[in-house]
Formats: sequence, C-alpha cells, structure tokens
Amino acid sequence: MADDIFKKLIGHCKEYGYVFPSSDIYDGLGAVYDYGQLGVELKNNIKRYWWESMVLLHENVVGIDSAIFMHPTVWKASGHVDAFNDPLIDNKDSKKRYRADVLIEDLIQKYEGKIAKEVTKAKKRFGDSFDEEQFKATNPRVLSNQGKIDDIHGKFVKALDENDLAGLKAIIEDNKVVCPISGTCNWTDVRQFNLMFSTEVGSTADGAQKIYLRPETAQGIFVNYLNVQKTGRMKIPFGIAQIGKAFRNEIVARQFIFRMREFEQMEMQFFVRPGSEMEWFDKWKETRMKWHKALGFPEENYRFHDHDKLAHYANAATDIEFKMPFGFKEVEGIHSRTDFDLSQHEKYCGKKIQYFDPELGKNYTPYVIETSIGVDRMFLTMMAGAYCEEELEKNGKKDIRVVLKLPAAIAPVKMAVMPLVKKDGLPDKARAIIDELKFDFNCQYDEKDSIGKRYRRQDAIGTPFCVTVDHQTLEDNTVTIRHRDTMAQERVAIDDLYTILNKGTSLRELFKKI
Ligand code: GAP
Repeated sequence: MADDIFKKLIGHCKEYGYVFPSSDIYDGLGAVYDYGQLGVELKNNIKRYWWESMVLLHENVVGIDSAIFMHPTVWKASGHVDAFNDPLIDNKDSKKRYRADVLIEDLIQKYEGKIAKEVTKAKKRFGDSFDEEQFKATNPRVLSNQGKIDDIHGKFVKALDENDLAGLKAIIEDNKVVCPISGTCNWTDVRQFNLMFSTEVGSTADGAQKIYLRPETAQGIFVNYLNVQKTGRMKIPFGIAQIGKAFRNEIVARQFIFRMREFEQMEMQFFVRPGSEMEWFDKWKETRMKWHKALGFPEENYRFHDHDKLAHYANAATDIEFKMPFGFKEVEGIHSRTDFDLSQHEKYCGKKIQYFDPELGKNYTPYVIETSIGVDRMFLTMMAGAYCEEELEKNGKKDIRVVLKLPAAIAPVKMAVMPLVKKDGLPDKARAIIDELKFDFNCQYDEKDSIGKRYRRQDAIGTPFCVTVDHQTLEDNTVTIRHRDTMAQERVAIDDLYTILNKGTSLRELFKKI
C-alpha cells in the first residue's frame, strides 16, 4: 500500500512537471534527477524558507556561496579521503548491492513496526482505559520484539564502533535478512567503499591535479571561517549558512530523490565557545524542529533519532526524521562537531585558525554546531506530506480528487485566475487581475475546459487559491475565490485579493511560529 502511494507520487511528480529523470530521452541516469517547471519553483521556495529563517531571523547568521571545487588537501584534512565510506554487501544471487547498515536499520524498523501494530490493536480494544507504558512492559509479544531490537541494536553499535565488518555481516545472516529481489540470504562479505567523485584540473601535460566534487558544502564554510569572521567582524557565537550542490557516489540509490548522486544541501555551521556546545546543540535542535513543524503537517510525522555511532569528530548528533511512504527517514542532521574541522585545517594549512574572545581575554578554536538538510529530501518530504487522494461524492457518484496540500507559502503557484467563459470580456478582466498581482505572486491563467476540470488541475499541482471571473465581476468588481483544501468558495472584491494572498501565502506566517 505504502509502496503503491510512493509509485503514484513519483508518477505524479513527472506528470505535473515537478521531477523528471535526468537525461530522460536516453532512459535516465541512475539516482540523478531534473526539476521541471513546477519543481524548480517549489525547490526555490524551500530554499528561500530555509535561507531567510537563517539569515533574516538571526542577526548573527550570515551566508556565503563557496565553490564546488576545492583544494584537494581540504578532503584529506576533513577525513573524507580516508573515511568517507559506506559498508557494502552484495547478494550473490540477484547481484544487487546494499548498504549493510541500512539493511540492519530496516530490520530494527520492522520489529518497531510490529510493536506499533500491537499497541494500535490494544488501544482499540481497551479504549480510554489503555495504559501504553504498562502494556509495553507486560505484553509478551511486545517484550519478545523489544528483546530482538535490543539484541540487534547492541551488536550493531558494537560492530560500528569497532569497524567490525564481519560483525555487520553476522547480524544480517543471523537474523536471516534476505535480499528483496532474490529472496535469498546468500551474501558476500561486507567491504568499505569511498563515496567521493573525483576529476582532474589542468591539462595532463602541465601536470593535472586530482580533485574531488565536494561531498558536503560544510567544508566551504570551514575554510572561509577566518575570511568571514574578520571581514564581517563577527563575534562568537555566530553562524555561516550556505546552500549548494554536493555529490556522492551512492551505492544504494533506489528511492527516487531520497538518495541521489547529485543533490543540494542547506548547511549552517554555528561557531561557539568550547564548553557551551551542548546548550547550542539543544537550542538548534529545538529551532530546527520548529522550522519543520511550522509547515503544518501532522506533528506525529516528525521525530528525532539520536545517532548510535558518533562520527569521530562529533560529541552529539541527532537526525530529524519524517514519515515517508517507506517509513521514518532522515531529512536533516544536527551535529555537534567539536573543534575537529577547524583544528584539522589549521594543522594541514599551517595557518592559525582561532578566535580571540575579548570577554575571556584568550584565543581558542571555536566549537561547531552544524545543521544540515538536503533540499531534495525536504522536497520529497513536502510532496509525501502533501499528496492526498480524497474520495468525493457528487450527485450520488463517487469520485477521487488528487490534491497536493502543500503549505501555501511553499506552493509553486499561489493563485490561478479563470474566466468563466472565453468571451464577453471575461478573459481581459482575468488577465488584468494577473497583471496587477504578478509582481508579488506566481499566478497562472487558465481558460481551457470546464471550471470543475480547471479546479482539479490546480488541486493536482497544489495551487492554494483559484479565482473565477464571471459576468457579475464586470458589474461589481468581485470574484469567486475557491480554497484548495476545503473547496469552500466565497465572493470577494478584486481589491482584497492582494491582502488575502499576502496573508495566506507569505513566509512571514511560518516565521512567526519558529
Ligand atoms: N555536513 C554534514 C553532512 O553532510 P549528512 O548526514 O551526510 O551530513 C546531511 O547529510 C543531509 O544531506 C542529510 O540529512 C540529507 O538530507 C542530505 N543528503 C545526504 N546525502 C544525500 C543524498 N545522497 N541524496 C539526497 N540528500 C542527501
């Protein structure tokens, strides 16, 4: 069922100009996608929501735009050359490749799902008197599944901590995890695979240099820390934000735009005094969760997931996960990265990268809290949260309405203007409304087909407001405005449209909730 919805969502994205496979006429390129005419608008709105929430709402956060190509030593210093690996495993029968850690996480999620099902069933049975904690502590089936989770989890953390690849394979085999394609448990050994793409700069005759396509935008911020701090006269605590492309040679790339080889990140590094990092980690956790929840999707679609294994440079890390059609998945990572990156760059470049704290009267290497979110994953979150199939009944007949309930501030088109008929001066009047509003809002003109069909087309692309111009409009300058989610219609003055759209679609209303 969830699989079904996901397939429909992918189809919908293509049909309505949101997302196309890259190089589509050549049958696509694995895990690379293009954004269409509506997709690019949605993507830009997501980026604007993030960018403004960072640099407008925080006077101590500024932005930069660093190059994709960087000096190769950056990636040696950051640890990516030696350790940016995924543990891979192949199924010998299907020849399909998987990430060993993802197979194990999915296994844990399977048992969590079983527990959730037991709880839902019991809730229905016991009604108001249901005590979830007591049920979980006593029900034999829940206890048995929880025992399995604890056992797998314990072994998983140990294997990751000790970089024990044989240990990871043993978990997969002992729990009889099968390949979804072949259905067999015939696995190869687990091995490490570096995810960075490389290329060369300069001609071979001059001595070409191997460089990497950046696998994260964060390093562009670290190497500019001194530039920004000095030229911007920034005082700690302060942040640097950036939006840009990143590249990873992902092995398992079968989930549409969830895991891509070329994708976009929105990252912010917040530089703080050593010792204050946990306070800032908690603060950014809270702020970032509010940013997500302000979009208005149900609260239960979000959760934090603390990392079992901390990267060698981190002293705390959590993910914000969203309930996708294929389960809860990471959308954003929040990491306390200590002074690892700045110290490493100091060591490799030989220049002092420190901050003189006038209040303490001493120099130190700042600690860093990072918030890192993928634009494409956020895009998928929006589409997955917004896609609805509603059953309607009209004149005794059942009908399905496909509607994208996108937050109005993020929706690509804010308003469609439709003349009731293609004559009597109604098209001119509709165009005049658009000409007045187009400076502030993305509007679409539509005169083809019946009004009902036009409404459905706009529902399918997520347009929050449709305005119909009819003969009465010519007499009293009023129009019918129809609201996407409720389908309610009301008569309003053309002069009021700006105010209605401004209130209904402005990012300001979301910012107030953060
Ligand atoms: N600088 C830290 C960093 O890059 P990460 O957890 O590897 O951390 C951060 O990535 C975010 O980037 C993820 O939460 C996800 O939203 C996005 N992301 C990572 N790999 C991705 C991929 N292959 N395709 C799409 N988005 C990806």
